[in-house]
Amino acid sequence: MQHRTLGRQGLEVSAIGYGAMGISMFYGPGDEQQGTAAIRRAHDLGVTFFDTAELYGWGENEKVVGRAVAGFRDEIVIATKFGFTRDYGTDSRPEHIREVVDNSLHHLGIETIDVLYQHRVDPDVPIEDVAGTVRELIAAGKVKYFGLSEAGPQTIRKAHAVQPVSVLQTEYSLFERDVERLFPTLDELGIGFVAYSPLGRGFITGTAKPAGQYDPGDMRNADPRWQPGNFERNVQAVDQLAQLAAGKGTTVSQLALAWLLTRGEHVVPIPGTRSPERVAENSAAADLTLDEADLTAIHDILPTGGFGARYAESAMPSWK
Ligand SMILES: NC(=O)c1ccc[n+]([C@@H]2O[C@H](COP(=O)([O-])OP(=O)(O)OC[C@H]3O[C@@H](n4cnc5c(N)ncnc54)[C@H](OP(=O)(O)O)[C@@H]3O)[C@@H](O)[C@H]2O)c1
Repeated sequence: MQHRTLGRQGLEVSAIGYGAMGISMFYGPGDEQQGTAAIRRAHDLGVTFFDTAELYGWGENEKVVGRAVAGFRDEIVIATKFGFTRDYGTDSRPEHIREVVDNSLHHLGIETIDVLYQHRVDPDVPIEDVAGTVRELIAAGKVKYFGLSEAGPQTIRKAHAVQPVSVLQTEYSLFERDVERLFPTLDELGIGFVAYSPLGRGFITGTAKPAGQYDPGDMRNADPRWQPGNFERNVQAVDQLAQLAAGKGTTVSQLALAWLLTRGEHVVPIPGTRSPERVAENSAAADLTLDEADLTAIHDILPTGGFGARYAESAMPSWK
């Protein structure tokens, strides 16, 4: 597995990471046993970057990750996030950040969080106060690197002036290209980028079903990209990508992840799956080379992204 360096503070991770969210929520029933097997398979295959958050089950996902990686914790980078309230509001008050960090350390069973992200920008707390609090946590040895998620250029700049930001995590995939607008800022400041939902929440794998056919708790039932009208157009695009992939002896998931790796040395995708077999498929994308003809063909299929917004309007993050 190749490695990439995120930011200028020395954060080194595998070119493809692993997102643990789906083990606990959003995509149907959780499954700790399978999730644990998937995490351990990822480690066996050289994945060193594991992503969780307080939000993912209010500590439950962190506990699953902590137990799964206990035998090799020192070989990997663990990222977690603070900043949501239980009714999906935001809370980045310094006292709340400190409390969440202590809880996360306990849930994960570790002494230091390698990457600590603010999960969403909090409009009620100046970002300088957030960055200052993370700076203190770094000085105290509880955190190593600072990250932001779904933050805009002004927020990134202000935060970075107080505590260097090593990485921005935001949705990015063949379906979701908006964040490319921020790449010049990241480049200027020397900040790495983590692509979340790099498989378009599973759509760019060839396994999408129409909204309503998922488990009742599955967010994709309400996702605009799964709604009639958008769904068919997205399926058609993924079918075309799958044909292209098949011609290269690879899969559409691998093509989608390899494409992200071509977008810049600062980009690391963190696909999520509860399946050890799919972990192997996804991780192998790090070895897939796409040439100019492949990139042109991909561009011709999806020049600007998928059809439909990436979140329902009420949940759409706004960059500040
Ligand atoms: N910062 C944020 O606000 C934020 C938001 C969302 C996600 N994230 C992070 O990003 C990570 C990844 O994003 P994500 O889980 O939303 O989306 P994703 O990685 O784009 O897709 C995950 C979905 O794809 C399926 N899948 C994965 N690999 C597959 C393959 N090779 N073939 C077929 N299906 C496959 C998974 O199903 P199975 O489990 O059934 O395989 C799951 O339903 C999360 O785990 C989380 O850590 C962060």
